[in-house]
Amino acid sequence: MIMVGQRSGTVRRGIVSFVRRGGRITVAQQRNLDRYRERWVIDVPPPPVPENPAAEPPLDLGKIFGREAPLIIEIGPGMGESLVPMAAARPEANVLAFEVYTPSVGSILGKIADAGIENLRVAETDAAEGLRRLLPPESIDRLWTFFPDPWPKKKHHKRRLVSRPFADLVASRMKRHGVWRLATDWEDYAGQMREVLDDHPRFVNEFREGWAPRWVQRPMTRFEQRGIDAGRHIFDLSYRRR
Ligand SMILES: C[S@@+](CC[C@H](N)C(=O)[O-])C[C@H]1O[C@@H](n2cnc3c(N)ncnc32)[C@H](O)[C@@H]1O
Repeated sequence: MIMVGQRSGTVRRGIVSFVRRGGRITVAQQRNLDRYRERWVIDVPPPPVPENPAAEPPLDLGKIFGREAPLIIEIGPGMGESLVPMAAARPEANVLAFEVYTPSVGSILGKIADAGIENLRVAETDAAEGLRRLLPPESIDRLWTFFPDPWPKKKHHKRRLVSRPFADLVASRMKRHGVWRLATDWEDYAGQMREVLDDHPRFVNEFREGWAPRWVQRPMTRFEQRGIDAGRHIFDLSYRRR
């Protein structure tokens, strides 16, 4: 599997929302990757030659999932603690997750196998690259971004995923009336999300009071629990594309 942007020289990487950690992989994660990668991990094609970007077609999702169905995207599912049960609860949807951290992909694959579901695939790639290169315009019905890396230091705020350029990209890939759900335990990042999305001409806040109630359909993950244990408030947001 080729990871977008890792091929030397051909693509200039901008600022990304993650650090490529070497990270130790457990025996179980590696075993899951060996067993299930071919089945559930989408092979991301190499980046196009810079002179001819139009040569690259988006993914054929009908072929990948073996059917046409509403498309749900999750960005940064981590170990899949909320992703897998949420995909299992929505057999009518095709669910595709973008995750950059290989050990986490291994954990997700193990959970998919345990759950015995066939409607979930993982692309091991930067979500911004994935949305831009792999998905056709107006293809996403639902987008989930739960507890994205907070980058709390001011000098790192530029790394935060939810920014105006990223929202522009999301707007272009979402269907009309598609819904983008987000959650974070970092007040300052929650404020940034509100600023970006409340001001965005193609998104409407679904909640007049601004914040959404905690989404009961989202299972608790260790990241959310960690925020609660540290005394932080959990902010939920929900936006509909015009
Ligand atoms: C703080 S964790 C949250 C995991 C999960 N959503 C949860 O609530 O437990 C953020 C995850 O996003 C992934 N990530 C960060 N930037 C990403 C990007 N640009 N594309 C895909 N995944 C990304 C990280 O590798 C990490 O697994």
